[in-house]
Amino acid sequence: MASPAAPASPQAYADAVAAAVRAAAAYYADGATPLGDDEYDALVRAIEAYEREHPDEVLPESPTGKVAGGAAVGDVPHSVPMLSLDNVFSAEELESWAAGLERRLGRPVAAWCVEPKLDGLAIAARYRAGRLTRVLTRGDGLAGEDITAAADAVLGLPDRLAEPVDVELRGEVLLTHEQFEQANAVRTAHGATPFAHPRSGAAGTLRAKDRAYRVELTFFAYDALGLPGLDHAELLVRLAALGAHTAAGTAAAPRRCATLAEAQQRIDEIAGLRAALPFGIDGVVVKADAVADQEAAGSGSRAPRWAVARKLQAQHQVTRLLGVEWNVGRTGIIAPRAVLEPVVIDGVTVTYATLHNPADIERRGLMIGDQVFVYRAGDVIPRVEAPLVDQRTGAEQPIAFPEVCPRCGDAIDTSEQRWRCVRGRACQAVASVIYAAGRDQLDIEGLGGTRAVQLVEAGLVADLADLFTLTREQLLTLERMGDTSADNLLAAIETARSRPLNRVFCALGIRGTGRTMSRRIAAHFGSMAAIRAADAEALAGVDGIGAEKAAVIVTELVDVAALLDRLAAQGVGAAVTEPTAPAATSADGGSAATDGTAAGPLAGQSVVVTGSMTGALAELSRNAMNELIERAGGKASSSVSKRTTLLVAGEKAGSKRAKAEELGVAVMTPEEFAALVADQLG
Ligand code: IVH
Repeated sequence: MASPAAPASPQAYADAVAAAVRAAAAYYADGATPLGDDEYDALVRAIEAYEREHPDEVLPESPTGKVAGGAAVGDVPHSVPMLSLDNVFSAEELESWAAGLERRLGRPVAAWCVEPKLDGLAIAARYRAGRLTRVLTRGDGLAGEDITAAADAVLGLPDRLAEPVDVELRGEVLLTHEQFEQANAVRTAHGATPFAHPRSGAAGTLRAKDRAYRVELTFFAYDALGLPGLDHAELLVRLAALGAHTAAGTAAAPRRCATLAEAQQRIDEIAGLRAALPFGIDGVVVKADAVADQEAAGSGSRAPRWAVARKLQAQHQVTRLLGVEWNVGRTGIIAPRAVLEPVVIDGVTVTYATLHNPADIERRGLMIGDQVFVYRAGDVIPRVEAPLVDQRTGAEQPIAFPEVCPRCGDAIDTSEQRWRCVRGRACQAVASVIYAAGRDQLDIEGLGGTRAVQLVEAGLVADLADLFTLTREQLLTLERMGDTSADNLLAAIETARSRPLNRVFCALGIRGTGRTMSRRIAAHFGSMAAIRAADAEALAGVDGIGAEKAAVIVTELVDVAALLDRLAAQGVGAAVTEPTAPAATSADGGSAATDGTAAGPLAGQSVVVTGSMTGALAELSRNAMNELIERAGGKASSSVSKRTTLLVAGEKAGSKRAKAEELGVAVMTPEEFAALVADQLG
């Protein structure tokens, strides 16, 4: 990660300091914050950069060099200051930090200990003769708040240790993912707003007084006073033996590493495990393991010199809720989905997040235009956690709930938390059959809305595969279905049986794949079997499919596996063409490449069609024209740009023709074009 630029002026620096102080104060007060972790870290680093360049302008309230950004308060003094950690953001920064430490020691570090950086709040728990006497927050590092009353609800922080020792455990209190879910369930049941974030939940819970409900937390010990002479890894073993909970039992267990390279490997492992851990981590801590190294290195006023946090990208980010979409699922469930101002979380751009159900939206008190906390971890579907209520401007709008099923327009059953179309699965069936029969998909004439409803309601059709087994007798049982209509419909279905792959694929109604994308996917893979065999990585090789969409398509393909089997048995979608992408693994074991070079008279051309088509092209819809262009090796596009190489201009061609002429793009009549692609047209 590049270092953020220093503020450009004293005023910008003062503004940055004020913003950081506000954020730190809010964060340590109740865990709510107007800034995401990454933004806060970047702000502090920019402030540090300015202060390095202008050491005599450092403001006294600057958060740099202070534990908790100088925000926290408390009145019970710590016996030994509770320090923070310095941060590094890359392997290179870690290396130079370690080199600095070894220079200071004048010798190599004996060994490292690598452990998860637990995303909670630091506490100190004092034991006298093995009995818990007092629990303190970190506060400003010198004095903390007494939170002994909250200890009861903290798992892993025993009332009594296994031996009657005098010791002060130090470690992190957090809400595991499960505890976070439980906490929000019980809070919303009590009419309280849900916690935005597990850490704000932990902070709020430790301080809460007189709550009508109980929220359970978890403690992880990572340090102690009063057990001298032990190397760090040994100390952790001793703490566990005394009955304190440590990270030892987790997949991210602390590990002693002989070299920095080994430590780096363990950091990568822990980072890779992050999504699967049952609790949040915001980094990995690297510590000099030997007590001799720790003592020789000592500590600064803010942080020890023998330990450092390798920060990971935050999994929570703040962004704006732009709107809510209502999607009807396969079973007729009407699910709200948040449309977000795009935000990068842990390297992935997130634009949508789940909102569960209408009751959940109400409980969270969300409004359109709100700044919201969004959470994403690994492959988990991003979700909107809560609005930042104190950031409201007054311009926020209530979220409109649908009054009728957004898919079929029938009524909504709102008796359960999850709303559902009264047609249930049939809502999906009717809509998906109408869609599949549409002109740009299977193009089945005579199968419009009324017929689709009849077929579904008569139990003859539940999905599009059923269309291909319909018999004349079955059709004749339908109202207003005479001999001729039945024969015509059967003939239209028969024609549809041999539609090309792209249309059959499009007919499936896979999310994120309309006509254009279906054409690209079909051309790329060449057969339904190859599409089905593709993993997310292979799908992401198709022009226009990013990682997020590829994952969705893979999931959807699994969902329709049975349907695809039945279609295949009917010979639907059986066409095979030469794929534009090499098979996933070639003979030399290489992976799929996508040079996309296609042969044909339009190879390398970017073609736009405008005006009405005549002659041999008269009957072709725009979609069919686009298919034709792609069969001929070209790329179809809907607007004229510098990249356009050919415009097919029919009658009444308007502004696109003018633009093409202005840009010097070649223009053809439909007849000239038909001659050019005669082979593909046949
Ligand atoms: S060691 C002198 N180890 O991260 C020792 N801290 O950003 C200083 N934290 O204040 C702390 N996991 O609240 C240490 N395994 C771990 C940790 C850890 C989380 C927290 C702790 C610290 C903060 C610094």
